[in-house]
Amino acid sequence: MAISRATIEQITLSSDLIGLVGEYVSLKKKGANWEACCPFHEEKSPSFKVNPAKGIYKCFGCGKGGDAISFVMDIESMSYVEALRFLAKKYNIAIEESASDFKEDQARQTEKESLQIVMNFAQEYFHRNLHEHPDGIAIGLSYFKERGLRTDIIESFGLGYALDQWDGLMQEAAKKQYSLELLEKAGLILINEETHKTYDRFRGRVTFPIYNVSGRVIAFGARMLGSDKNQPKYINSPESLLYDKSSALYGLYQARNAIRQADMCYLTEGYMDVIAMHQSGIAQTVASSGTSLTEGQIKLIGRFTQNLTLLYDGDKAGIKASLRGIDLIVAAGLNVRAVVLPDGHDPDSYAKAFGSEELDKYLKSHTQDFIAFKAGLAAEESAADPIKRAESIDSIVETISLVPDVIKRSVFVAEAARLFKMSEEALTESLNSRIYERLRKPKPRVPSSDEPPVLPPLDEMDHPYTLAFEQQKISPLMELEQGLIRSLILFGHKPIEDDYLIAHYILEQVSELELKTDVLQKLRSEYADRLDFGDDMSPDFFLHHPEELIKRMVIDLCAEFYQLSPNWENKYKIFIPTEEDLLSTALYANILRLKKQHVLEEIKELELILENPSEEVDDMEILKEWKEKKEVEMAISKELGSVMN
Ligand code: CTP
Ligand code: MN
Repeated sequence: MAISRATIEQITLSSDLIGLVGEYVSLKKKGANWEACCPFHEEKSPSFKVNPAKGIYKCFGCGKGGDAISFVMDIESMSYVEALRFLAKKYNIAIEESASDFKEDQARQTEKESLQIVMNFAQEYFHRNLHEHPDGIAIGLSYFKERGLRTDIIESFGLGYALDQWDGLMQEAAKKQYSLELLEKAGLILINEETHKTYDRFRGRVTFPIYNVSGRVIAFGARMLGSDKNQPKYINSPESLLYDKSSALYGLYQARNAIRQADMCYLTEGYMDVIAMHQSGIAQTVASSGTSLTEGQIKLIGRFTQNLTLLYDGDKAGIKASLRGIDLIVAAGLNVRAVVLPDGHDPDSYAKAFGSEELDKYLKSHTQDFIAFKAGLAAEESAADPIKRAESIDSIVETISLVPDVIKRSVFVAEAARLFKMSEEALTESLNSRIYERLRKPKPRVPSSDEPPVLPPLDEMDHPYTLAFEQQKISPLMELEQGLIRSLILFGHKPIEDDYLIAHYILEQVSELELKTDVLQKLRSEYADRLDFGDDMSPDFFLHHPEELIKRMVIDLCAEFYQLSPNWENKYKIFIPTEEDLLSTALYANILRLKKQHVLEEIKELELILENPSEEVDDMEILKEWKEKKEVEMAISKELGSVMN
């Protein structure tokens, strides 16, 4: 039985750290903090500091630190659960036991990691087929070449080929001993319910991996090659713990920098549209791919830009999708425009027919704001019909009424009035009555989402408590990783602009790095998950994290910042960035140093292999890799040099 999350939170909130510590040592107030001679080691002058506002303590002599729960564990030599019971009794808190919440959360986390591993494997496998398997080359690669895709695009989108076999992927997975259950959960294989036979989901198709924002493959789309009417053109991965259709966007990973630079984003329908746009140099393009646009997807784009242009086919279905999209985007508070390609063209066919430059020119000159777009549609179909005309006006007013911002609303009303040659007053009146009606209706309650994933507390067996990292010597790499996570926790929740947080910046910058320190890697993934789910990621949450090991690490990292120590600037050579200069140089330089350190370690490993020759390894390959890493190191050093000057 575990103690419920709510109880732990209540215990944390109710604990009076000053009173508690004061029962063991004599505390003196010093500014915002309190201090005493450390109860955990012999000392003459006080280096044990308590910060009541944050509910944390730290000894700058022996390094012990934590919160109320940790203090009881340390001073009474209790396990985590014993300490919780001790405090609950002291503060009269009833303990709520929850059977296995934590275990479940842990299982969920582990399962996610396993799924990620098989998805990476599948991606590598499909992509390798395209370059190395005779069928992959003859069928898959030539299909892409025939459609005019450049090699760099094939690479940056990770395109691949699934062989026309029932078990191509399964056989390869068996070599790695991945379980069928896991492959099935990842949506890579199917199990026939009657015969229990298993077979690959994607067969004889080219594959389009779908990446999440941080560049991890979370799903696949797979297109057939011929034009068999009895088969769906695309087969897509089912949803999984990794893949939530409503919050994934095809191409976002490849498009995100371009979106930020252009401060706008094109939204198209499909895989090939995105790829054609990128190949035409219009890389600020994503697609909702296979689902109609959702609020989650819009929010995701909103992290990068507030300006969204819908680029759908000019056919009926495309227009309908545009109209639906417009209302959703407007309601989310983003600016929406729309553009339709002529004569049933999509970006792919248009670029092929007229070239990239013409495509860009066309898009720029034919993009309309949503009012003009809707008015244009209305003019086409309802020129002479007064009823149709009234319906169109109604529909525009309805869309305007969804705009959250009053000032924008009035600008749109003015434009609509001009386009339809109507008085602004009449439109405003109709608009206001709609808004009034909506406000009057009780709002549907948003069902609360599942509890955020939580890491489990230490087992009752962990007693007495020792911290791996307290004894460990800190390497330069670990120090840099600590600096990174420290910035993430202290500043990550702050916005750089609008919805784009410092955490987004940091996590993107290091998306390819696996942190070598376990706790830090765990913290990073938890942070990323919380960011994705919109869960609490304030420093306070992490300072009282339910997993003791993590909490102690966080307090260790952040104690100085909360000025528990007089000499924090000297002690840590790593610069703790202040908010002002955070993004200018310090943080960027820290990230570069970290990347460099990672490369250096990899180089060291390669050199070790070269120094100890063995039959199994191909020295030339290693040497080639070594050379590449060296080049990366040089490039980073150069960049670092320019940042620092
Ligand atoms: N789609 C799907 N399943 C299908 C058909 C379409 O999921 N059976 C989704 C895909 O995301 C596809 C998008 O709808 O990319 C648009 O469909 P379509 O225009 O038919 O495909 P394109 O991507 O344009 O592919 P192509 O140019 O090769 O026809
Ligand atoms: Mn198409």
